[in-house]
Amino acid sequence: MADLTHVYDKPPQGANADWTIPQQWERFSADEHGMWDRLFARQSAMLPGRAADAFMRGIDLLKLEQPGIPDYRALNARLMAATGWQVVAVPGLVPDAVFFDHLANRRFPAGNFIRSPEQLDYLQEPDVFHDVFGHVPMLADPVFADYMVAYGKGGLRSLGFGALHKLARLYWYTVEFGLIEEAGGLRIYGAGIVSSYGESLFALDDPSPNRIRFDLLRLMRSAYRIDDYQQSYFVIPSIEHLLKVTVETDFAPLYAQLEQLPDIAIADTIPSDQVITRGTQQYAQRRR
Ligand code: PHE
Ligand code: CO
Repeated sequence: MADLTHVYDKPPQGANADWTIPQQWERFSADEHGMWDRLFARQSAMLPGRAADAFMRGIDLLKLEQPGIPDYRALNARLMAATGWQVVAVPGLVPDAVFFDHLANRRFPAGNFIRSPEQLDYLQEPDVFHDVFGHVPMLADPVFADYMVAYGKGGLRSLGFGALHKLARLYWYTVEFGLIEEAGGLRIYGAGIVSSYGESLFALDDPSPNRIRFDLLRLMRSAYRIDDYQQSYFVIPSIEHLLKVTVETDFAPLYAQLEQLPDIAIADTIPSDQVITRGTQQYAQRRR
């Protein structure tokens, strides 16, 4: 799911200076390909009518329905042609500046391992299923592709202000756990949701979480949880809107303003919120 903390301080043995490693697609076993197929079948059966148009188009365009863990040589040929993006393999979570530099240059770093059967529903570090099935279809959308580049540049800039902890919330509540309002209703597009069986259902159907219209300043005041389903989701009206607002806003004064404003707790709404669904929070309360 990629909370933006990292594990190593320098590239591990065998990795390049930018932390990339060869995918070595040939090294995945039949069982590992089988795990991908199992996860793919379960998610793709459920996503029509739930996942955003852009996500469904990405699955199609990139031919992700072909069996097995995707070989990046073929995947990148299609992705490059669509938006100039490519997927690169990394050993695990990479340092923030390295991650942002990849995004700014249209490279998406993907964990080069797949979860074990015991981790079918939950794992802490992003694996190839989360990273490729979850993130890559949206990167085939030209507008979202530009958003991710802008986020990478904005991420590098945030480091100079010591403001990554605020900017990371934007990534969390859009790229990982974002909802979008389409003509047919609410849809999921965040990678953390679309790659999770349980949260794909929960995020749209469960009465527990808040669903609040996207507001940049409000969102960046919002804490988030990394250990369970979200208690609030933010709903964008369109990918164009998300790109426009984030690119046209200078975040420097926003970071300064955010330092003066109290954080908003994960389950709370505030009077200025445009609330689509006010959550009961019964799920989170049960789990305490
Ligand atoms: N406009 C932002 C800034 O001034 C950069 C940014 C763009 C951040 C898009 C996130 C997403 O820092
Ligand atoms: Co992720």
